[in-house]
Amino acid sequence: MIARMLKDRTAIVGIGETAFAKRLEPSEKRLACAAPRRRDRPASLAPRLSYIPAPMLHYDPFSTEVMRDPYPVYARLREEAPVYYLEEYDAWALSRFEDVWNASMDNKHFTCAKGTTSAHVLTKVQQVTPMLNNMDPPEHTQLRSAVRRFFSPQALRSLEPTIRSLATACLDRAALRGECDVMADFASQISVKVACVVTGVPLEDGDLMNSLVWRFFARKPGHAGMTPEGLQAMQELFAYLVNLSHARRRAGSGADDIVNLLNQIEIGGKKLDDASIASHLAMFIIGGSETFPKVFANDILLLAQHPDQRAQCARDPALIPNAFLEGLRYLMPTQFLCRVVTRELQIRDKTLRPGQPLLFLYPSANRDPREFRNPDVFDIQRSIPRLLSFGQGTHSCIGLHVAKMEGKVCLEETLRRIPDYELQMDRAERLVTDFVQGFAKLPIRF
Ligand code: HEM
Repeated sequence: MIARMLKDRTAIVGIGETAFAKRLEPSEKRLACAAPRRRDRPASLAPRLSYIPAPMLHYDPFSTEVMRDPYPVYARLREEAPVYYLEEYDAWALSRFEDVWNASMDNKHFTCAKGTTSAHVLTKVQQVTPMLNNMDPPEHTQLRSAVRRFFSPQALRSLEPTIRSLATACLDRAALRGECDVMADFASQISVKVACVVTGVPLEDGDLMNSLVWRFFARKPGHAGMTPEGLQAMQELFAYLVNLSHARRRAGSGADDIVNLLNQIEIGGKKLDDASIASHLAMFIIGGSETFPKVFANDILLLAQHPDQRAQCARDPALIPNAFLEGLRYLMPTQFLCRVVTRELQIRDKTLRPGQPLLFLYPSANRDPREFRNPDVFDIQRSIPRLLSFGQGTHSCIGLHVAKMEGKVCLEETLRRIPDYELQMDRAERLVTDFVQGFAKLPIRF
């Protein structure tokens, strides 16, 4: 720790010295340059100078500062400590695009089997259960290959009219009131129902799934990690999915969906029990329903803040798919996901040891000027050849095409029906969670 503090201080004093030199009078400058302070110099002759050192670089993923606006600290991390050591958790954080990209594709030195969220590997308040994102090859490869066909663009073609009719129904209801909450009345309604359709959970239980996922992700300010209420919601979700799996097997349902597939396949030479099936299903429901609304609310915000670009999208809907990706690049809700080191490795000048968690700071990577020109500018026409918002490599988002389709259809319908919506920021609420940021509520009027 001391060594790190000294090292960080050196960099910061360097910054402080620049400011300090600017404030010197010419005579003092001469003194400072030509006559460095000697041991025998009387204290009264030492130049009386004051300077304000830049605050020491300290990254705490749960700090109020990071919760409020993480981008300034991400910028410093990228420049001053791209492989940053979090002493409190004996963990590391990567903030540059290239580093996150490369480490995401490295299955030799990292495991997901110890969990990938802060609740698993930092605060350790949540147990790891079998889910696609918490598995390593070869089991991960077996399961992912088995479910992949449900997420292919061909399989999803029939989903577009479903998403459009869900969006239309939400906007019809909102039109009667002339306002709506983008999260609760629109995007969450759609994403959770789409996740049910893709997974094979009955659509009529969509509202129940939605409320369980919201309770699971709700956090209390000042409480690091998941709350007991969130853990309770997770247990309720599991209980529902265990019953669903069991009931389906007993009924001998022949539906071609993920619930039935999980009942049939073998992973590692063994059939899955109901608890494992429920756990895998929970991943599809949570992964499928939780992130999209926050991404969509950010898009609504960004387009309102950039009226020219909003008007361009409304005039030419062909711009919408790229606008959706640019929104995801510019403001990504998932602040980080983790891996745990299995074999010692070197990243830049740092040595990572087995057992240490590694954080991928995706939103920081997506604003890395080494990858994107003018990264702090929102530009829907930007070319985005690579993006980290859906991860990369073995565990990259399997729901990528679902998410892109939801983004395209929901933005198209919103800009077609209510292109001049107005944000009601006085009634907006931010969501305070340990690794996901966004709106809990974003009311608009039209
Ligand atoms: C805009 C919306 C979405 C975003 C930003 C997003 C983001 C991500 C990211 C960053 C990962 C990588 C996790 C890691 O490397 O540890 C991931 C994985 C995953 N996502 Fe998504 N996702 C979205 C929508 C969806 C949807 C709609 C579904 C399903 C219907 C889904 C299902 C999954 C699953 C199952 C995984 C784990 C894949 C694996 O480990 O092999 N996601 N997602």
